[in-house]
Amino acid sequence: MKGVVFVKFNEFIEHLWGDEFWDELLFEAKLPSEGVYTTVGLYDDQELFTLIGLVVAKKNISAKDAQIAFGKWVFKELYAAAPPQAHDFKDAFEFLHGVQSVIHIEVKKFNPDAILPEFTFLDESPTTLTFHYQSPRKLCFFCEGMVYGLAEHTHQDVLVSHKECEHNGDSRCVLEVEKI
Ligand code: HEM
Repeated sequence: MKGVVFVKFNEFIEHLWGDEFWDELLFEAKLPSEGVYTTVGLYDDQELFTLIGLVVAKKNISAKDAQIAFGKWVFKELYAAAPPQAHDFKDAFEFLHGVQSVIHIEVKKFNPDAILPEFTFLDESPTTLTFHYQSPRKLCFFCEGMVYGLAEHTHQDVLVSHKECEHNGDSRCVLEVEKI
């Protein structure tokens, strides 16, 4: 995964629990990169999962809650670095379409080695948007957190539900975003 995700994860952990806790994670994780991340680098996805696993064990939270919290926090950080078109979307549903049709495409142009998730939109009404989240990384809870971060940004209240989830034995992940 792109270094920006690791750099932001480092900042997120230090923001919550301080830099000593981050150092403790690195000491125990014994990562190939030694946790020296740069935004332009590319690192093994497994390093992120190892770090999340250690946070889960040490802070007694679930991997699901850790991913949601990180996704929600990181949205505004990625938004700040987003291509200019991202700033045109004012509504959460419009933005989510834009992630698939514009934002992640632009990200890929500038970072050909990035692996971005695919969203297939299945159903939409004025209040509900349903999409299939597809990624070999199975980070649907991170995705859920990003949607909550987005809703905070657009000043909309939403509820995200996993109508189908690979982590529950389903064959795919389908997320429903409801404006409440
Ligand atoms: C609510 C809006 C967004 C959602 C739901 C979303 C979703 C995701 C998810 C779930 C991932 C993890 C990778 C995976 O699942 O395979 C990801 C990665 C990424 N996204 Fe987005 N994203 C959003 C907005 C943005 C924005 C605004 C940017 C601006 C630059 C961005 C740039 C990236 C980058 C750089 C990665 C890492 C790709 C890699 O490591 O290969 N995303 N996104």
